[in-house]
Amino acid sequence: MRAVVAGLAMMMAAGAAVAGDLQGHGGPVSALAAAGDVVVSGSFDTRAIVWDLGAGTALRVLRHHEGNVSAVALGPEGPVTGGQDGRVVIWPEDASERAHALHQAPVAALAVLPDGGVASASWDGTIALTGPDGAVAARLSAHEGKVTGLGLLEGRLASVGEDLRLRLWDGSQTAAVVDLPAQPNAMAAAGPLAAVAFADGVLRLVGPDGVAEERFLSDRPLIAVAAQGGRMAASDIAGQVWLLNGDAPAQRLEPGQGPIWSLAFAGDRLLTGGADGRIRAWSAETGSPLAEAAALQMANDEGPLVWRACAACHTLGPDDGNRAGPTLYRVMGRRAGTVPDYDYSPALRETGIIWTEETIAALFTQGPHAYTPGSRMPDQRIPNPEDLDALVAFLSRNGR
Ligand code: HEC
Repeated sequence: MRAVVAGLAMMMAAGAAVAGDLQGHGGPVSALAAAGDVVVSGSFDTRAIVWDLGAGTALRVLRHHEGNVSAVALGPEGPVTGGQDGRVVIWPEDASERAHALHQAPVAALAVLPDGGVASASWDGTIALTGPDGAVAARLSAHEGKVTGLGLLEGRLASVGEDLRLRLWDGSQTAAVVDLPAQPNAMAAAGPLAAVAFADGVLRLVGPDGVAEERFLSDRPLIAVAAQGGRMAASDIAGQVWLLNGDAPAQRLEPGQGPIWSLAFAGDRLLTGGADGRIRAWSAETGSPLAEAAALQMANDEGPLVWRACAACHTLGPDDGNRAGPTLYRVMGRRAGTVPDYDYSPALRETGIIWTEETIAALFTQGPHAYTPGSRMPDQRIPNPEDLDALVAFLSRNGR
């Protein structure tokens, strides 16, 4: 689940769009990781975004990599990203990011180690083990050819590679080597076993003694896999996704997002990251689409990112309360100046404005000083019409 990008995904990087400032993902979502409601996504657009899945908002946009953000993980200090540029970056909350140029080739997968350090696997055939202090503790010559997947099997690192092997590690020593029947494209840890997505369309569970179980899913290559508890999910290059719960028959989802380059479980949800730049959420139980899908639409949706300018002073959740500005929970249709426990300026209270898509658009076209003279909201305008439309649409979805 931590690093589910398939090696194949990186070959598409040549056409990746590089978007300007303050935009959502403008290219395929190549990596996903989640812990509860916190989701981190990496994209061909060179950015990673940290999301609050419950609120459907972007919390942080992480910019460092040149090229695809090909692997992501959530570590004890914050998100970790790995790129096509061979770098691994740790992003603590205080924005003091630390970048390490660890590899000669793209980073294919990341895993957070039990001691808080990070393992990064690369197409250069090596795995770098970095301590919690960021210093490289060991470099493993892991596979001949590319390393394509990484995971922790009950505390022990496992890797798969182009040499058709799974290697189980004991520190920097090899504890076991297993021959694989086909090309592995991605792996996720499933308890004591590795769930490996293979180019022959088969999802195999592999342990130190060999292949323990096979699920024949597709006649196309599988490119991403995620596992959590007894659940697994895998996707193929044609855009189909399978959800597996124990021994039950696999459920097939068709997200309609083009190839699904990344998958992650977030509590009882499955997230799919598509070639369309969107992250969609599904019930991990039933496989039905969830409402969060709409809120996490990233392609050409700058709403969550424009909202970041407001989030310093306003909240949207029912229980989040007031900040410097009043809560905007249910702002749509509300009369200005009427949140009971907020100390408004008399000027705003007396405007009689009802907040709608039109009046909020006017507020930021003219600016608070012109539209609501005497208001205490700092003057600000959103001159870019696309940003304004995105904000209004975002509030229209989330401010009810
Ligand atoms: C630096 C703080 C700050 C920022 C940033 C800010 N606001 Fe405000 N906002 C306020 C304050 C303070 C008020 C109350 C003004 C008053 O009482 O006159 C307010 C009031 C409002 C109101 C009226 C609410 C009501 O209950 O009548 C809306 C709507 C609003 N802001 C939307 C936004 C949006 C959308 C953004 C981002 C584009 C934003 N604000 C950014 C501080 C801020």
